[in-house]
Amino acid sequence: MATEISRRTFIKGAAAAGVVLAAGTYFAWDGKNIPEKVKTGDVTYDVLVIGSGGAGMRAALAAAERKELKVAVMTKLVPTRSASTMAQGGMNGVTGVSDPTDTVESHVFDTIKGGDYLCDQDAVEYFAERAGENIYEMDYMGYPYNRQKDGAFHQRKMGGHSHPRASYFEDRAGHAMVHTLFEQCLENNIDFISECQMLEISMDGDKLNGVIAMDMRTGNLIGVPAKSIIIATGGYGRVYWVRTSNPYSSTGDGIVAGMNVGIPFKDPEMVQFHPTGLSANGVLLSESSRAEGALLINKNGERFMSKYAPERMELATRDIVARAIATEIEQGRGVGEGIHAGVYMDFTKIPAERIHERLGQVYDLSRRFAGVDITKEPVPIAPTCHYSMGGLEMADFHTGESRVKGVYVAGECSCVSVHGANRLGANSLSEVLVFGHTAGDGAAEFAKANSYVGSQDSLAKACEKWKTTFEKATTRGREGNKSVPEIRDAMINTMWYKAGVFRDEAQLTQASAELDALDKEYEHCYVGDNSHVYNTAFEQYVELGNLLQISHAIVQGALARKESRGGHSRRDFPKRDDANFLKHTLIFKDKETGKYRAEYKDVVITKYQPKERKY
Ligand code: FUM
Repeated sequence: MATEISRRTFIKGAAAAGVVLAAGTYFAWDGKNIPEKVKTGDVTYDVLVIGSGGAGMRAALAAAERKELKVAVMTKLVPTRSASTMAQGGMNGVTGVSDPTDTVESHVFDTIKGGDYLCDQDAVEYFAERAGENIYEMDYMGYPYNRQKDGAFHQRKMGGHSHPRASYFEDRAGHAMVHTLFEQCLENNIDFISECQMLEISMDGDKLNGVIAMDMRTGNLIGVPAKSIIIATGGYGRVYWVRTSNPYSSTGDGIVAGMNVGIPFKDPEMVQFHPTGLSANGVLLSESSRAEGALLINKNGERFMSKYAPERMELATRDIVARAIATEIEQGRGVGEGIHAGVYMDFTKIPAERIHERLGQVYDLSRRFAGVDITKEPVPIAPTCHYSMGGLEMADFHTGESRVKGVYVAGECSCVSVHGANRLGANSLSEVLVFGHTAGDGAAEFAKANSYVGSQDSLAKACEKWKTTFEKATTRGREGNKSVPEIRDAMINTMWYKAGVFRDEAQLTQASAELDALDKEYEHCYVGDNSHVYNTAFEQYVELGNLLQISHAIVQGALARKESRGGHSRRDFPKRDDANFLKHTLIFKDKETGKYRAEYKDVVITKYQPKERKY
């Protein structure tokens, strides 16, 4: 089968048409950020999705297949601005297209091995069995895949995979996905409640009332009643601020809102550091760079991956490549200084035409953010926080349900336990499709079977409570109080240097103490703006509160896990310890005291007994 991409003109045309279509749908959208019926309290949603990324919109589409249901997507941004938009490399699934020898079994095994055996193997089977059909489904929806000579979509091989199975649009896979899904959501009359910052999930005991949010355009607080909600708010890379590939909006809001109503944060210590962020600022250069042939070189010109992963080299798993780069830097074979130190990624052996065809964004990002023309010279890169393998526990992966009735979870903010301790490249976009679909179906069936049990009065009371919080926080003076950015900068320093790529007991203990001190400062911090129109100072205050809570969970999980596995690398416990830690961490938040406690849960093993990983 031909694998060469030769339909460049066609693809470019398709891409341009996609952009025009997406722009067309955007302008066809009425431009109001909130439907009138939400403002007047005249609607109770059957399914209210929080988050307009790949998982959120795929979930909404699935739910909206039941035409009798009222479905809405709430986002603090505008739709199409989510973190999914920044995903670059592709979406995996066995399709029988680029490599007919690939099998679902092989996708399952690669994922489990890549996840260092912390994956629940039944969930991985469910995922891999459905990933291929989701790729075809996106094709029918109009996704502008890069294609082969025979017209079928092309698939590339990402790190840790034994076959090419990532379908893609250039190195803008997520961007194309989000626009394709948004267009379908408009076609299916799904409501959008945009530029609304979710503040809490409102519950009375075990009864779900709905969601409280701030309309950023006016500062008004709104309570949106819903029979079921799906939390799909994405990750929290901003815990590591200057060294993350995530957008400013990735602040873990949904995870904290979920913990506040009793959902545990599963495996929070499992943070993924992507090997190749720009050294200058953490911006992602896709793993598809290495899939297309880019090499990693230290300051002495050595292709150092031969020491760390002699077989797979640059296409070993992310945890291994990230640690290799960090080690090269630590041992003096890097380039640059301090937080901007890195090694080189060298594209100069790849024909320039191919770079422009398949790595257009990587080319642009390197030129704009590092001043490097990658067709001519290598670009300095270093690990950057990219992804959260952990998240809100999905209690049943057949429905997307959490352990709180009526509350469903999907996407990066959730933990199905497909990725274990280290996610493979391009498994995320397919995960958001598979489990977005599942959660949308699950929440819709729940809404059909149950009536609204919540209370509009409780929603109104919660809005009043947030009004008071707003007044109190935004009118506090500067005198003696740290500002939101000051506390945030201290937090990110703590997290990057003491809970980053490598960790140990002393650093984590110190990180925990520093976070405790920052919590105290946060209680009376200076916000500085009490206006009501687009008060981003207040929004950032709320987000910082969430980031601090996420940081505590990461550190607590990391301190307790006295082993190294996947993305969690303890210098003081360098080996994996299956006897004691072949189990998931569950961090619960006490509703009264706000304190965290940990429980553990066994990993589900079906076919693959843990073995040492070699790449
Ligand atoms: O490197 C990348 O293109 C990232 C892809 C992913 O996280 O799946």
